[in-house]
Amino acid sequence: QPDIPALPDGFRSLFFETVTSTNELAKEGARAGEPTGLWVRAGRQESGRGRQGRQWVSPPGNLYASLLLVEPALPGTIGQLPLVVALAVHDAVSAILPPMLRPALEIKWPNDLLHDGAKLCGILIEGEKVAAGQAIVIGIGLNLRHHPQTAGYPATDLAALGCPVTPEEMFAHLARAMARRLAEWRSGGFAALREAWISRARGLGLPIRVRMPRAEFEGVFEALDSEGHLLLRLADGRLETVSAGDIFFATG
Ligand code: BTN
Repeated sequence: QPDIPALPDGFRSLFFETVTSTNELAKEGARAGEPTGLWVRAGRQESGRGRQGRQWVSPPGNLYASLLLVEPALPGTIGQLPLVVALAVHDAVSAILPPMLRPALEIKWPNDLLHDGAKLCGILIEGEKVAAGQAIVIGIGLNLRHHPQTAGYPATDLAALGCPVTPEEMFAHLARAMARRLAEWRSGGFAALREAWISRARGLGLPIRVRMPRAEFEGVFEALDSEGHLLLRLADGRLETVSAGDIFFATG
């Protein structure tokens, strides 16, 4: 059934009470020839998926949404998309939080949203080749009422922070923020978002550990470059450019 009516131009959405995974449904849509701009949202997921093959426990009350994009060509590398999405989710959650709680809302490179170090949102981006080009599914799970434990660090939800919000209300903010940030990325690449990103990043200027598939580094999180890569200052003074990996902070 159609979801909330007031979506930005070029987007439409479907709502389902129960699904396996909104990412799965959006991918099915892509294979069936759905055009770009489709949001699939669900009340709960029976087999919600997280990154690295993990499960995403999805009880009713939280927001589960996936956006299908079908793009002939991307404005930047696909690796920048998680950063674009994280920024949009940050915008959407900021709009809900009272000003006092906003400074603690930070993005953990490349794409987790944390409040005071506790995970509030997970993002899972998947690609799928279709006849019209490259299909990309952006899955967003945002903790509104529950925070099932996620691997690695503590979790929280907006109600626990004193900000109860319905999935509908949150989704309306998210859909607008995504449309805006995607448009900025399309016209200016990651460089157009870099300043905003840096001002919301957790751990900038602090010592971090970076875990990559085949290596691990320690250093100071010095900056992000115009492509969204993390620049890490190593103990020997060299600057390492990190394009993918997980980061860990000394203080949670
Ligand atoms: C993570 O591991 O941090 C990413 C979690 C992504 C969860 C969302 S919920 C909506 C969409 N559907 C899924 O099955 N996963 C994503």
